[in-house]
Order: sequence, then structure tokens, then C-alpha cells
Amino acid sequence: MKTIGVLTSGGDAPGMNAAIRAVVRTGCESGMKVMGIRRGYKGLIEGDMFEMNLRSVSDIIHRGGTMLYSARCPEFAESEVQDKAVEVCKEFGLDGIVAIGGDGTFMGARALTLKGVPCIGIPGTIDNDIASTSHTIGYDTALNTIMDMVDRVRDTTESHDRCSVIEVMGRNAGFLALNAGIAVGATCILVPEIDYDIDSYIIERMKRTMTTGKHHFIIIVAEGVKGIEVSSLAKYIEEKTGVESRATVLGHVQRGGSPSVRDRVIASKMGYHAVQLLKQDIGN
Ligand code: ADP
Ligand code: F6P
Repeated sequence: MKTIGVLTSGGDAPGMNAAIRAVVRTGCESGMKVMGIRRGYKGLIEGDMFEMNLRSVSDIIHRGGTMLYSARCPEFAESEVQDKAVEVCKEFGLDGIVAIGGDGTFMGARALTLKGVPCIGIPGTIDNDIASTSHTIGYDTALNTIMDMVDRVRDTTESHDRCSVIEVMGRNAGFLALNAGIAVGATCILVPEIDYDIDSYIIERMKRTMTTGKHHFIIIVAEGVKGIEVSSLAKYIEEKTGVESRATVLGHVQRGGSPSVRDRVIASKMGYHAVQLLKQDIGN
């Protein structure tokens, strides 16, 4: 392995920069040439890459987002487009690639590996939806951001004796909703992995809890829960319980911000380890 590439793809996640830094520093210290590929597989196909050195990754460990930018490139699922990427790798002399991203990015990395360009995937997504990985890069920061935002919503929810129905990200997975919900002491948490009867799970529970003197409620809903739209749910809760209700969609604020200690540390370790695996030809 003389020359390796590094890219970030799919939804960005806090800590991706720390992973890029570790890949570049480990690669350079091992005597490799390291190419930074811009905008994921899109940039790879276009040959949009540049040589990086120890200084290229200064001052990024604490920054959210990704200095290599990210993109969605749906056409990369097509075999001919992957062949084009293999040609570009030959042209630039790339012997292997470290691909940082979520499950879609991993599928692209697998396809490239099968076509002769060894890739190592680093799990980077706030959704935490990568098999065999307990904590993906960005998940911990996003959880802390959600917790902070919901704590703020709670202040006003409590002041007005209201119910807040809050939608959080996670694509088709409920990890963010579940653990953020536990951390904020939510009355109910809805995740896509479980089917719910709204009347028994939310309405009855709220009514029961109201008899104990509670007047404000936080309901966390994962965006992947099918057939539930938070503003309609808030209206329904108000109708059935009499508690004034509001809906909040947290949105892309969940993906930004400076990475937590945990994300910086796992990203640094994974970046280092990915280069070690390429050195040992494990991606092949
Ligand atoms: P994430 O990596 O966060 O899951 P996406 O699902 O958008 O985000 O995937 C990122 C990119 O990975 C896609 O834009 C595409 O370029 C590539 N990709 C996704 N699915 C496949 C697939 N089945 N085969 C090859 N590449 C894929
Ligand atoms: O995969 C990360 C993620 O933030 C998901 O939680 C969310 O469903 C999706 O990306 C949003 O994608 P976009 O930024 O393209 O709207």
C-alpha cells in the first residue's frame, strides 16, 4: 500500500474530521501518500482529489461537519459507475480507500473492494445504524445535542402545562430516539422497531400520570416511525387528553456542532486502525 484515499460520504456526522485527521496522520507517518477525495463517491468518479500532509488536518479535530465535504451519489449503486471509479483509482494510483460514512457508504465500499480496490469502512453516522458497531462516530454528539435541545423545550413545556411531541432523526433506526428519550425522562418514546397503539401507549399513560399531579409531558418520536406525523399526533393528544400540545421537529441541528469527547476518541482510534488494516492488506 503506497497510496491511499480517504473520503466521507452520506450524511455528515460530528467526529468525521477527527477520523480524517487520524487516517492522514497515520498514513503519512507510515510513509504513505494520502489523497483526500472531496464529496464522497461523487468526487471519486470525477477524480476530485488532492494530496494531504500532516498539516492539512491541523485544527480540525474539534470541528463538526467534514473538511472533505460529503454528497449523496445514488448512481454509485450501478456497476458501470463503480467501474469508472476503479479506473479513476488506477489513474491516481490509489491502492486502497478509507470510506467514512453510514450503511450506504459501506455498500459502496464493499462494491469497490469486490472490484479490486480494497476499502476499509469507518462507521460515521448520527443514526448508529451500522451492524456490529455499538457506537458510530457522531452518535454520542447527536444524543447530547438532542438532550440539550429537549431540555430547553422542557422549560417552556413545563411553564405552560403543555405536552411537547418532538421528532428526532435516525432514518429507519430508533437509537437516537430511545437513548435521548431515556436521558430526558420522556413520558413516551416511539421507535420504528416497535408497533404502537397510540391510545393505550400515550393517551392512557398520560391520563394515568395526570392523576398523580403531573401537568407537562415530553413525547419523543423517531422520524422513521411509519404513519405518524408529529403535528397531527400533537392535535390528537390535545383532543383526547385536554392538555395543550405542540410539535417540534429538531431537524438538521442534530447533525452539527463540535464532537463530544467520546466521538473524538473513537474517531481517532478508528482512523488509526483503518490504516493499519490497509497496511496489512485486510481490505483485500
Ligand atoms: P449513509 O452512508 O449515511 O448511509 P447514503 O445511504 O446516502 O448515506 O449512502 C451514501 C452513498 O453511498 C450514496 O450516495 C451512494 O453513493 C453510496 N451507496 C448507497 N447505496 C449503495 C449501494 N447499494 N451500492 C453502492 N453504493 C451505494
Ligand atoms: O443519515 C443521517 C441523517 O441525518 C438521517 O438521520 C436523516 O434521515 C437523513 O440523514 C437526512 O438527510 P438529508 O440531510 O439529506 O436531509
